[in-house]
Amino acid sequence: RVAGPSALVFFGVTGDLAKKKLLPAVYDLVNRGLLPPSFALVGFGRRDWSDDDFRQQVRESVEAHARTSFREDVWNQFQEGIRFVQGAFDNDDAFERLKATLAELDETRGTRGNHAFYLSIPPKAFEQVLQKLADHDMAESQDSPGWRRVVIEKPFGHDLESARELNSIVEKVFPADSVFRIDHYLGKETVQNILAMRFANKMFEPLWNCNHVDHVQITMAEDIGIGTRAGYYDGVGAARDVIQNHLLQLLALTAMEEPISFNANHLRAEKEKVLEAVTLPENLEEAYAIGQYEGGYQGGEEVKGFFDEKDIPADSRTETFAALKVNINTRRWSGVPFYLRAGKRLGRRVTEIAVIFKKSPNLLFGGAADNTGQNAIVIRVQPNEGMTLRFASKVPGTQMEIRDVNMDFGYGHSFAEESPEAYERLILDVLLGEPPLFPRHEEVELSWKILDPFEEYWEKNKVKPEGYKPGSWGPASAHEMLERDNRAWRRP
Ligand code: BG6
Repeated sequence: RVAGPSALVFFGVTGDLAKKKLLPAVYDLVNRGLLPPSFALVGFGRRDWSDDDFRQQVRESVEAHARTSFREDVWNQFQEGIRFVQGAFDNDDAFERLKATLAELDETRGTRGNHAFYLSIPPKAFEQVLQKLADHDMAESQDSPGWRRVVIEKPFGHDLESARELNSIVEKVFPADSVFRIDHYLGKETVQNILAMRFANKMFEPLWNCNHVDHVQITMAEDIGIGTRAGYYDGVGAARDVIQNHLLQLLALTAMEEPISFNANHLRAEKEKVLEAVTLPENLEEAYAIGQYEGGYQGGEEVKGFFDEKDIPADSRTETFAALKVNINTRRWSGVPFYLRAGKRLGRRVTEIAVIFKKSPNLLFGGAADNTGQNAIVIRVQPNEGMTLRFASKVPGTQMEIRDVNMDFGYGHSFAEESPEAYERLILDVLLGEPPLFPRHEEVELSWKILDPFEEYWEKNKVKPEGYKPGSWGPASAHEMLERDNRAWRRP
């Protein structure tokens, strides 16, 4: 799978994401021979940079963050196709210059009119940039044989209404099948493996339903705070930042029915079906917990509380931790709650999906402690990628004592192949024109529909998130939420 000739235009090239992830990912693809020699990279931004200044920026971020090693020969070939177009998002002259640059690259580098526009910019700028691309005839290829695609980074709106608006703006300029919405979790190996594990095996699927599964826990814990991202994060919070997209995508892949093929439409239709079947508990106030991290010590280091982070107002109600409980109203999942939790400054960085089974009656082992024999399949999304099977076993000795043990599959042990970075896979798929790993607008909207009632409840009732200690597993209310259901969060 090597991409054909093409130019990739980045808007928002000075942002953190571009520097740390996107530009290094492009270089890694070049270095791995997955982009052709004719590939070109264009940066568009306000900085007063020449092509060479931009090349220098790209080189620095590649040297600091690329996964593959730096090779002078690869770089030299790559950098010849790098250009920078200086200008503001509302400047017609700048868009004319962009158009001329792309035409020049089509001629000299051989990009053949194939242009992808990557918008790694604040959503409020989307409309303007899209409109300018349309006004300057860059959104559709009229006279040349090439394709035109647009890539958008989240957030895709901040609720259902704004997401709908945004989707209609984007799809007015680019046809739906030319729009690639990035949810970088879908680019992760372990996330793609959920489908392989479920549908390439015989032994899991018969158990994967309400006859055997007690509940499912999906956790995305980060040990970092919000750092200097207050401008983005305040007013957004954990639920909008990662539950609406990453966690609900994980839920969809875990809970969906088997698609009839990997064709994008089949896959996305199954995800949509299950998202559409999500229902919220009647007592919404018992189906969530939200928190804000306090200052203190984490791993022996002193860390700031949320309110001491730069630019966080003293009355902010933005949650840095959220746990939600949802149900899925299908024959497969009836009565099986899905608990989702995500937060900053938690015990450690870990994302996992834990499918917790109903307990065995343990009739033979009356002496066994209550919590043994609760089988689980844990998909370890990151770090330490792999899967754990948890089951009860006899403890060696002269008595019949039972204890739970883990059986592990780890990528590092089982595969010699390295996992590409999520963004490598996704950028390659954009250039190949392969849409399965990109959510369509229906999925995005369905996810907001799940989240909106919680956000509205918090807003209407001015719910104040509860403080939690850095390095803990969230506020007390998150634990109480599961205790009410006679359950407990797993300690990853
Ligand atoms: C992003 C969120 O989507 O995902 C960030 O906006 C978060 O707040 C990041 O830190 C985590 O990504 P990963 O790949 O490190 O789990």
